[in-house]
Amino acid sequence: MGFAKHREFLPIGQRVLVCCVAASLWLVAFSPFHHDLKWCEDKAAIVESQAKAEKLESIFDVIRHRRSVREYDSAPVLEEDIRLILDMAHYAPTAGNVQPWRFLIIKEKENLQRLHEALNEWWTDSVKKRNLPPEQEKEALERGRQYIQRLMTAPVFIFIFVDTSVYPELAMYDGCLAVENLMLAARALGYGTVFSTTFFPEEKVRDFVQAPANLALICATPLGRPKHWPTMPPKKDLDELIVRERFEKQ
Ligand SMILES: Cc1cc2nc3c(=O)[nH]c(=O)nc-3n(C[C@H](O)[C@H](O)[C@H](O)COP(=O)(O)O)c2cc1C
Repeated sequence: MGFAKHREFLPIGQRVLVCCVAASLWLVAFSPFHHDLKWCEDKAAIVESQAKAEKLESIFDVIRHRRSVREYDSAPVLEEDIRLILDMAHYAPTAGNVQPWRFLIIKEKENLQRLHEALNEWWTDSVKKRNLPPEQEKEALERGRQYIQRLMTAPVFIFIFVDTSVYPELAMYDGCLAVENLMLAARALGYGTVFSTTFFPEEKVRDFVQAPANLALICATPLGRPKHWPTMPPKKDLDELIVRERFEKQ
């Protein structure tokens, strides 16, 4: 009765206004709106990342301009790009065409965080085992911590494993050839990588990702847009490396 009486005091225009305010509050408070907002942010980050990409088409340019990248910006890597990069990796030659690879992708935030913590722990263990003088130990720990911090700016990590059960003595070659394909494909799309070994002890990594015993780790690589492309480190003169017909007698 009281309510009905109250309604008489709210003209239709005000009632519509109250409804609109209530609907807006509901939208702000509940998830569909947040999902849309998140989707827009993700989309904007992807568009920005694609615009920034320094892509290359000639295979010669790709080979020359691939660099080991040890620091990334936060731009996302498109899922379709990850697939294309791994697709290229899996065209590499393999002994007996066994194709023994497993490409393990880590891109979930909480798993990247766990990896970051694990890398610090593994590095600390390995430095402590060296029994260095305190100053040197401190310096090594800090250097590693900073290196890891920079590397973990990458939004994606890929671990390359090979199944060693068919050709145990050749599987490593298969793994390395696929890694090179992967790195070149990534470079063509404007992404950086680095063949990472030192901070990724095989046994620890295997435990971390629950790898089966028949898999050997080739390396890990971050994947992402470089914070900046490093300048090329010195490369030997090609003529130092070429030998014609046979080696000189020693
Ligand atoms: C077998 C192998 C192991 C490597 N291990 C590491 C590593 O643990 N950490 C790292 O930062 N770079 C590592 N690298 C990358 C080299 O340091 C890098 O390729 C080299 O300095 C030349 O630079 P570029 O790749 O930009 O031409 C490794 C490369 C290879 C081939």
